[in-house]
Amino acid sequence: MGYHLITGATGLLGRYLIRDLASAGVPLAVLVRPTRRMTADQRIDMIMGFWDDQMGRELPRPVVLEGNINEENLGLSTKQLEWVSQNVDRVLHSAASLSFYSTSQESEPWRSNVGGVKKVLDFCKTTGIKKFDHVSTAYVCGLRTGRIMESDVDVGQEPGNDYERSKLQAELLVRGAEHIESLTVFRPAIIIGDSKTGFTNTFHGFYAALQLGHTLTQMQTPDETGRLYAKSRFTLDGDESKNLIPVDWVSAVMAYIITHPKHHGKTYHLTPLNPVQSRLVHDVLQWTCNFYGSEFAGAGVELEDPSEVERLFYDHIRVYNSYWRDDPVFDSTNTQTAAPHLPCPHIDRELLTRLSQVAIDMNFSWNDRTPHRFGVT
Ligand SMILES: NC(=O)c1ccc[n+]([C@@H]2O[C@H](COP(=O)([O-])OP(=O)(O)OC[C@H]3O[C@@H](n4cnc5c(N)ncnc54)[C@H](OP(=O)(O)O)[C@@H]3O)[C@@H](O)[C@H]2O)c1
Repeated sequence: MGYHLITGATGLLGRYLIRDLASAGVPLAVLVRPTRRMTADQRIDMIMGFWDDQMGRELPRPVVLEGNINEENLGLSTKQLEWVSQNVDRVLHSAASLSFYSTSQESEPWRSNVGGVKKVLDFCKTTGIKKFDHVSTAYVCGLRTGRIMESDVDVGQEPGNDYERSKLQAELLVRGAEHIESLTVFRPAIIIGDSKTGFTNTFHGFYAALQLGHTLTQMQTPDETGRLYAKSRFTLDGDESKNLIPVDWVSAVMAYIITHPKHHGKTYHLTPLNPVQSRLVHDVLQWTCNFYGSEFAGAGVELEDPSEVERLFYDHIRVYNSYWRDDPVFDSTNTQTAAPHLPCPHIDRELLTRLSQVAIDMNFSWNDRTPHRFGVT
């Protein structure tokens, strides 16, 4: 078996993918950029050390290529390119910018999600790589409603933000690349932490609302009930569905499909069979942020005379406006057919509360540099 080259290995999803693919015996190479304080090698060392701790055994190490998807040849030397040409036969492209809005076409998310994909595809052409796994998003469907099929791509939909627009363009680019002979597209919905340990190293989406709720309530004093009375209104109905999926499940399904060639060449919606309702998300926010007194004002309602807390909340959460609504129904026939033995864990009150509590205990931050014994007793 040739090497699989993974981009985005330091991200939330990428670090699970290297764990699961390395555990399955897949020879891995990773393209990683250095940070101000750590080389690419050091970054991967920390992540693999974390997994060794978690799993109680040493996992095989990937070959680390220091580079950047926004550079020609991904910033690799001639010697590294030669190694790739001789050893790598598959790219798993997970790297992306999760910035929702951009200030210009030269900035994120365009630079990495569109420019970066073009560079990765050029690199595949140069090095003769013909098999490509692409991590897209279920939300390339934009603001569509109704049932979204895995075969749907560009049907003239209106994207909800620049991120969705850039990811749709990226998907169209990889689909149009004639030198790619086998293309598998993964479209996860909203990724949250590990269903078993609660671990996450990023705090977007659901966590952003949680962090905001937590910060706002921490600033005030609870009443005699021990909780904070926060009369506030959610501009939702309560029965909107949201497609939250644990990162360990996303990675397990992807690793299974990647290691079983008969499932290659398709598009997979990585979405739950039973989405959570916004009422449950609301209840968990109230409980874990230790407040009560909030209610649903109705979907899309313009709040009259918003309180200071409501104004602060909606000002900060504005970036996620396109997610503050009912999700469409994602058909996931391909995923269910390929991996029926890997059902998505049901996100119930208990699991969402536990994930929220872990994020609060982590103070909504994670640094790979600090030695941690996360969840290891
Ligand atoms: N998170 C979600 O809810 C969600 C939902 C649907 C789809 N997705 C897709 O899933 C994929 C992984 O997302 P994630 O949640 O794991 O995101 P993440 O935690 O933000 O990780 C992004 C990864 O991309 C890397 N990256 C970004 N720009 C790069 C560049 N110029 N050169 C090299 N590496 C670069 C980052 O490297 P650094 O560590 O150096 O920054 C990091 O490893 C993305 O394609 C995303 O669009 C995510």
